[in-house]
Amino acid sequence: MTLVSVPTVHLRNGADLPLLGLGTWPLNDAEAADTVATAIDAGYRLIDTAENYHNEAGVGEGIHRSGIDRSELFLTTKFNSQWHGHDGVRQAFRTSSRLLGVDYIDLLLVHWPNPGQDRYVEAVQGIAALLEEGLVRAVGTSNFKASHLQRVIDAGVVPEVNQIQLDPRRTRRDIRDFHAQHSIVTEAWSPLGPGSNLLEEPAVTALAEQHGKSPAQIVLRWHVQQGVVAIPKSAHPDRLAQNIDIFDFDLSEQELSSISALDTGSAEITDSDVFGH
Ligand code: A2P
Repeated sequence: MTLVSVPTVHLRNGADLPLLGLGTWPLNDAEAADTVATAIDAGYRLIDTAENYHNEAGVGEGIHRSGIDRSELFLTTKFNSQWHGHDGVRQAFRTSSRLLGVDYIDLLLVHWPNPGQDRYVEAVQGIAALLEEGLVRAVGTSNFKASHLQRVIDAGVVPEVNQIQLDPRRTRRDIRDFHAQHSIVTEAWSPLGPGSNLLEEPAVTALAEQHGKSPAQIVLRWHVQQGVVAIPKSAHPDRLAQNIDIFDFDLSEQELSSISALDTGSAEITDSDVFGH
């Protein structure tokens, strides 16, 4: 495999987040170890996992196997609702870092706001405390709506990244505008769209043909060219290589718009005011 170098976006507290990374849900430990080692070999530096994926040990094994220097990696994990609170976040950090085999985490995320429990503000403050101690390098949230982010901001912490479900059929314009107003980087989970029949859309396949790229590469280019960080998961070495090989061509403004026109106006599949773990 040829090694691809991925551009980064600079975060407010100093970390540099690669624009393209590897998602690891729903890989088990053994699959995660193989996939992470292969991905690092192909040039991936951003690896995204979560307590709830139950594969942090496998991700750690893949990192160890790759032999890469820790400082070259950008590791993201997320914790569940039971840890929302200052001490809880610290405990969640300890468990994740032990499983991953690292002594700091680049970006730690509150996985879901769980507003029914109403402790997500404390959870974000808990991450900010770890940042002060150098144990994490960036503060993040996942699946937060603007209303959740606003409460966190009002309490004195502006998250650096919010990871949301985002693809050309749900472009999430409103929350992205909110992010932009507060210098919060948007990170897209399931960037290729759930079920991936997005990749058969004529608007996407036509551009793939014109650019000599695959439909997945066109969709991923659409994300990163707008400054959205994308973390597609694939367990296949050929797709891993393909998904990161998107930094040698450009889509025109018109081409970007033709993909954005696939927007159905849908929000995320799961409503984070109701669902969470
Ligand atoms: P696979 O792992 O078999 O390659 P997610 O939405 O969690 O990011 O998952 C992405 C989905 O899209 C997975 O089912 C993955 O399947 C598939 N996928 C990833 N990369 C490609 C690609 N380049 N072409 C087609 N399908 C892809």
